[in-house]
Amino acid sequence: MTLKSDVKSWGSLAKFFHWAVVLLILAEGALGLSMVKLHKGPGAFVYYDLHKSIGITILALAVLRLTWRAFDPRPQAVPTMPAWQELAARAGHALLYGLLFLVPLSGWWFDSVEGLRPMSWFGLFEVPHLVAADPNLKHLAHEIHETLFWVLVAVAAGHAAAALVHHFFNKDATLTRMLPRHGRAPLGAALVLLIAALIVAPPVTRALNPRAPRAPAESTPASAAAAATAAATTAAAAPASAPQARAWSVDAAQSTLGFKGTYQGGGFDGAFKRFDAAIAYDEADLAHSKFDVTVDLASADTGASERDDTLKGDDFFATSKFPKAHFVTESFEKAADGSVSVHGSLTIRDKTAPVVLAVKFAAAGDKATLDVDTVLKRADYGLGAGKDWTDVGADVPVHGHLVLSAK
Ligand code: HEM
Ligand code: HEM
Repeated sequence: MTLKSDVKSWGSLAKFFHWAVVLLILAEGALGLSMVKLHKGPGAFVYYDLHKSIGITILALAVLRLTWRAFDPRPQAVPTMPAWQELAARAGHALLYGLLFLVPLSGWWFDSVEGLRPMSWFGLFEVPHLVAADPNLKHLAHEIHETLFWVLVAVAAGHAAAALVHHFFNKDATLTRMLPRHGRAPLGAALVLLIAALIVAPPVTRALNPRAPRAPAESTPASAAAAATAAATTAAAAPASAPQARAWSVDAAQSTLGFKGTYQGGGFDGAFKRFDAAIAYDEADLAHSKFDVTVDLASADTGASERDDTLKGDDFFATSKFPKAHFVTESFEKAADGSVSVHGSLTIRDKTAPVVLAVKFAAAGDKATLDVDTVLKRADYGLGAGKDWTDVGADVPVHGHLVLSAK
């Protein structure tokens, strides 16, 4: 077995690179296409991690392969091959080399703009982001990754078909000189190793790096709850019957309802993009003040689509069954130091729990700002109740900032 290629045949290292990459791409493509159909939970994240680790491996092999190629003589085309075919084959190979870089790089780019925590290579070390997170590029990056993959499939299929035509119709040595020399043993061994790696890698990843990246729903649920609470605080629905404190309308464009989550020790910020708040508030007439807030839970945005999808899923908000969170005040309390707190109840999913909000209100003429803070306990609402989510922070601080105009 010769490591280097010669004018007539490919060396064993060139063959290894070629067939290892073919096998890895087959596994990687199948994994990519199936993992995107999985319910996004911790189970699926293991496969996402595996996909990224194999993808980075393919990229590293492409770099090594081209480096080796610079020192390795390339066999001449078989003597019977017409010049146009040789040219077409060279163009095809150049295209394949380009795609071997572009497909994993586009995946890495997509992962980076998603803004998840840096991926971990088989749980052994962290691979940094290529660029800063940018939610506006997520869709484009995904499209590019997926499209380049299908271009690779088409070019590789044409390339493989050409190799088979040479073998079965032209009956020349083009294919056989690229095949492992000593029977099928090395190929079989590579296959077995690959399958073993695929089976072993997910548990190994988890065992080696239990605090691994992949920011799932994390404390999002709690956050959402918190956000809901905050929203509640923010808005007050004008009570229908009894006399009412001054009513305010909320400037949605300037108001925010945010929350902070933690997952495996790392923190992230989230916000609810859509909520309605009816607010009647007068510090001199707390008895007739009221907040009534409804939060559209599917509008939770934590800057990472996988995490947002997890939040909307059954383990957390289950937005298809329970689309809204609702907060309504029960009483207001003024402490000796003048600070105001609000007691109310917050409903998320089918669970209602008492919540206390700290309120800061500042009015200037017909304009005012209302800031509310609370810390929600996600367990109160059954958010992330399963053992899969023990790494999600139990407490979710929520902050609502409402910009108000007098009605
Ligand atoms: C040659 C290497 C690679 C191949 C052949 C490949 C192939 C694929 C395929 C077929 C999909 C499914 C696309 C869809 O139907 O939506 C996919 C998705 C994905 N790939 Fe790759 N990929 C590669 C490398 C990478 C790398 C290096 C990363 C990140 C470091 C990556 C990250 C992702 C992610 C995050 C998704 C999921 C997209 C989603 O959730 O919608 N890929 N990949
Ligand atoms: C993902 C799939 C594949 C990729 C990315 C790929 C890539 C490549 C590249 C880049 C080369 C050029 C090597 C060089 O000049 O350094 C090559 C050569 C070759 N490939 Fe593939 N290949 C794939 C699948 C296949 C399959 C399935 C077959 C066989 C059915 C095959 C048969 C060959 C042969 C025979 C050569 C040598 C051609 C020659 O001597 O001129 N390849 N491949």
